[in-house]
Amino acid sequence: MQTIFSGIQPSGTITLGNYIGALKQFTELQDDYNCFFCIVDQHAITVPQDRLKLRQNIRNLAALYIAVGIDPEKATLFIQSEVPAHAQAGWMLQCVAYIGELERMTQFKDKSAGKEAVSAGLLTYPPLMAADILLYNANLVPVGDDQKQHLELTRDLAERFNRKYNDIFTIPEVRIPKAGARVMSLQDPTKKMSKSDPNTKAFISLLDDPKQIEKKIKSAVTDSDGIVKFDKELKPGVSNLLSIYSVLEQLPIEEIEQRYEGKGYGEFKADLAEVVIRHLEPIQQRYYELVESEELDRILDEGAAKANQTAGKTLKKMENAMGLGRKRK
Ligand code: AQP
Repeated sequence: MQTIFSGIQPSGTITLGNYIGALKQFTELQDDYNCFFCIVDQHAITVPQDRLKLRQNIRNLAALYIAVGIDPEKATLFIQSEVPAHAQAGWMLQCVAYIGELERMTQFKDKSAGKEAVSAGLLTYPPLMAADILLYNANLVPVGDDQKQHLELTRDLAERFNRKYNDIFTIPEVRIPKAGARVMSLQDPTKKMSKSDPNTKAFISLLDDPKQIEKKIKSAVTDSDGIVKFDKELKPGVSNLLSIYSVLEQLPIEEIEQRYEGKGYGEFKADLAEVVIRHLEPIQQRYYELVESEELDRILDEGAAKANQTAGKTLKKMENAMGLGRKRK
């Protein structure tokens, strides 16, 4: 059976973008692959976080993974900082990566732009992400479109390590969803929807209540021609809403366009809000049952034990390949 690894940062409450771009794919893959799903809390601290909020976001994200349909009997769910091999392997891969290639990453450029104090961790995020993936010898990494560049770098680092030291890593393939690979901000549809966007109207969080969802979709930026039509260049706002509608309802975009022909944005947006609310309702219900439960701790403890076992073996191979530590008799 092939292996899948993917992670999400607990840098806020996950959005409809994270759900459509990543989580939804995870639930579709867990039957056919040996899956490792991770809450990448060490990635989250590459930008400032409030300690108590981060702790809560980690727990919320774990509960949401299960609430959207990840089955802990099938997939291994764990927290990155509870598996020390990630940070250890991340360091080794930092020593394989070049500063120039890290500085070229668009996420680093975006997140460091205009900031006076940028953590070194923001620059060295991709080798840690490479470690996350390579420790499990993942064949496939399901992510949204924005992570494609990091995945390419992961492949480069794995190939470089295999060439320079020892051929131990599987070279992973990226898996990007056909639809919804990049859900855009509701306030600026030229920018991707992000859970850490300071403007909360820009995203729909998986825990937003029906009133918030209605309000956010109603105030989503569109255009003034009033035609429900997909055109990414000329009508990015409407196109984004159409994509969300299409993915959640599993309907072709053309069918939705026809449904709203001659009708304004008001009716389209009200119906979309209903679609989103209907979709999130069972997820939220399961989330509230789980989030403070002991069952969640048990799942995460078991996940960490399994992940430690697999990751520990690869770490040993990496250390041997690089000549770290002592040779044991
Ligand atoms: N807008 C999006 N559309 C589709 N997929 C998305 N993903 C993120 N945003 C969108 C996918 O979600 C997964 C988890 O992402 P992450 O938490 O590791 O980091 P990110 O990509 O930086 O996500 P955010 O929401 O934008 O987080 P912040 O605000 O903290 O930077 C990934 O598979 C990603 O592709």
